[in-house]
Amino acid sequence: MTAVMPDAKLLGEDIDRVDGPIKVTGAARYPADVTYPGLAHAALTQSAIAAGTIRSIDSRDAQAAPGVLTVITHQNCPPLADGPVTPLGPSPRFPLKDNRIVHHGQHVAIVVANTHEQAIAAARLVRIDYEETSPVLGIDNPKAPVSRNPWRMDSGRGDIRAALAAAEVTYDERFTTPAETNNPIGLFATVARWNGDHLVVHDSTQWPMMARKALAAVFAIPEDNVRVLVPYLGGGFGAGLRTWPHVILAALAARLAGRPVKLVLTRPQMFSSTGHRPQTSQLLRLGAGPDGQLAAIDHEATSTVGAEEATVEPVTVVTPLAYACPNVATHDRQVRLNIPNPGWMRAPGKTQGNFALESALDELSYTLGIDPVELRLRNYAEHNPQSGQPWSSKALRECYRIGAQRFGWADRDPAIGSMRDGRWLVGYGMAGVTFGGFSGPCRASITISRNGIACVRSAATDIGTGTYTIVAQLAAELLGLGTSQVCVEIGDSDLPLAPQSGGSGLATALSSAIYDAAGNLLRAFLGLAAGDDQSPLHGRRPGEVTATRGRIHLAGDPSAGQAYTDVLARHGLVQLSADGETNPSANGGMAPAGAFAARFAEVRIDEDLGLLRVTRIVSAVDAGRILNEKLARSQIIGATVMGIGMTLFEETVFDPVTGRIANATLADYLIPVSADIPDLDVVFVGEPDTSNPIGIKGLGEIGIVGVAAAIANAVYHATGRRIRSLPITVEQLLGAPGAAWARISERSAAGPPAPVPAARQAPAAATWRSGQTPSSDPGRNCHGGF
Ligand code: MOS
Repeated sequence: MTAVMPDAKLLGEDIDRVDGPIKVTGAARYPADVTYPGLAHAALTQSAIAAGTIRSIDSRDAQAAPGVLTVITHQNCPPLADGPVTPLGPSPRFPLKDNRIVHHGQHVAIVVANTHEQAIAAARLVRIDYEETSPVLGIDNPKAPVSRNPWRMDSGRGDIRAALAAAEVTYDERFTTPAETNNPIGLFATVARWNGDHLVVHDSTQWPMMARKALAAVFAIPEDNVRVLVPYLGGGFGAGLRTWPHVILAALAARLAGRPVKLVLTRPQMFSSTGHRPQTSQLLRLGAGPDGQLAAIDHEATSTVGAEEATVEPVTVVTPLAYACPNVATHDRQVRLNIPNPGWMRAPGKTQGNFALESALDELSYTLGIDPVELRLRNYAEHNPQSGQPWSSKALRECYRIGAQRFGWADRDPAIGSMRDGRWLVGYGMAGVTFGGFSGPCRASITISRNGIACVRSAATDIGTGTYTIVAQLAAELLGLGTSQVCVEIGDSDLPLAPQSGGSGLATALSSAIYDAAGNLLRAFLGLAAGDDQSPLHGRRPGEVTATRGRIHLAGDPSAGQAYTDVLARHGLVQLSADGETNPSANGGMAPAGAFAARFAEVRIDEDLGLLRVTRIVSAVDAGRILNEKLARSQIIGATVMGIGMTLFEETVFDPVTGRIANATLADYLIPVSADIPDLDVVFVGEPDTSNPIGIKGLGEIGIVGVAAAIANAVYHATGRRIRSLPITVEQLLGAPGAAWARISERSAAGPPAPVPAARQAPAAATWRSGQTPSSDPGRNCHGGF
């Protein structure tokens, strides 16, 4: 018997978060809330230079400060093994390995004291004498080493050179995106406690199994000796996908202090210690026919990485999958700088890559006079264009159609600067989104006990996305229970293996494992009942039964059955358990599709002030089967807000001389506030996916992708200003310093002093060149269109 979904009553229902009440009442324990008797507190001392060595370090004053238990620096740090190579690269370089400094804000000491305040005060007393060298900073720095990214994601099909040379129109432009920093509201925290050679760590991780692996490797103890707990996390967005050095330092501090230790990062330390979205520079060369058919996509991306780190920003990873283009080449390169190591931030790489590709397509639509939606439909990838395999599901066409309908795309006057509302220029823009599928191996177990409660267990995490709730809904559905009869135990590395809550892959992996476990558990119950000659299910086989209302019964006759609790009682059992697993490597010849989306944005721009307001965004999303529309909508809305942040505000600024992050506070690092966020309409289209039994396609990240391009495209429609560099600031909208904002009315009046916007002087020629062979000019300025 496979687990069946009898009446699909609970799945898809907008039930509230099952963990909502304990979160809003403060009962949920986040890593920073954990305490132990005898808990000591740690604080970090960070490097004030970006490159060089520590000539000497004097921790005597810190050590002598009130309440201080121990101060650990590279001088007294015991040797530790390197962390393991993970799917996301090795653990970051351990900062106390030696006296070298590779970035500003590198941890150089950890101080442990009786109280938090004592630790912070003492951390300031650690005196360091540096031998400073000139840091390598700036993505364009010729001194910076450049390499292919270690994932070797360069890909290709067809003959890109020939296709570009032969194309009717070609395009050759550069896009840039800044560094950005995840700002989960929950400050990352680690509480570590040793018991002999056993280590328990409460940590803000999105991947307990990986944290366990890393800690076991570093401290050279068996993985079974390490337990990582994270029942609740105050946001992750990718910042929790690596076992960062501070986690290892906290565990080391606990070991050396002989006490449980808590370390909570400060907000500025979050900027330097838990990764950031790296800066990128992308060169996009395209060729197309007069009908808008793409002939060539050549996408080269450069992203920044730390001086001695290995992580990867997959900027071009989705490019080969997005359109039915016969000739595609992608190149992902890395520039090594003395910056805190980047990490992953919601839709890493994909969201920047989409900005470039979908902006370029918008430009093509103006060049050829083809509606932007129509242009995308002409290049629709019916099959996975890289592998040729059929998609496991794809409703992107419906996303375009329904999204356009809800948005009112048909009302758009395609002429630039043609729509206005009083003093505001109005622009409509759109973008398509192909996300790509990911899933990992996962296990789950389910136990039904004499009290009728089913408990689902897996080492997955809920990073605020709603895992607890969808697991409860799914298990209830599969086992014929109410959600209040399901308990969910996750966020513990001692539980059955689960992949990271990341890459939009957990819901698919975990639900597949639960499906398998539920089927096995139903079979186990039926096995008992079928062998019991007193049972109404005596002799029955899996295909004949189903489960509803806490009972297993004949599919056609709910009265002919037995409650789970009766089966347990009759057989003298306290509980019955079953395990389940999924290993997504076998995909049956299908290309796991991942989610798709179409985004439509409306902007209003004040001509005089360069004010830009995003006034509407419609997101039509194909995420397969939606388990809980309320939560799914929350994911898309939250990610769209993050997308607005990426487009209009966010930028992590590295001081070009010192390498210090100049805006590492929530006062200086701009993120949207409620007043920046308009009505966000979300509609789900699409059918259950065929690559997994429940039909899910993860949607944790897709909500951010396409926002930047849709807004930038709307800005172009309103103003004729093509923005290829994020964020879109007032300065960019007003053009080069000193230049006046040209009113549409002035421009059409052809008054000599008004600068002529590129759009008015044949926007096509500015970027798409007929019959020209594209050149590679890395120095091309992204503001060249003004
Ligand atoms: Mo996300 S960057 O996969 O947490």
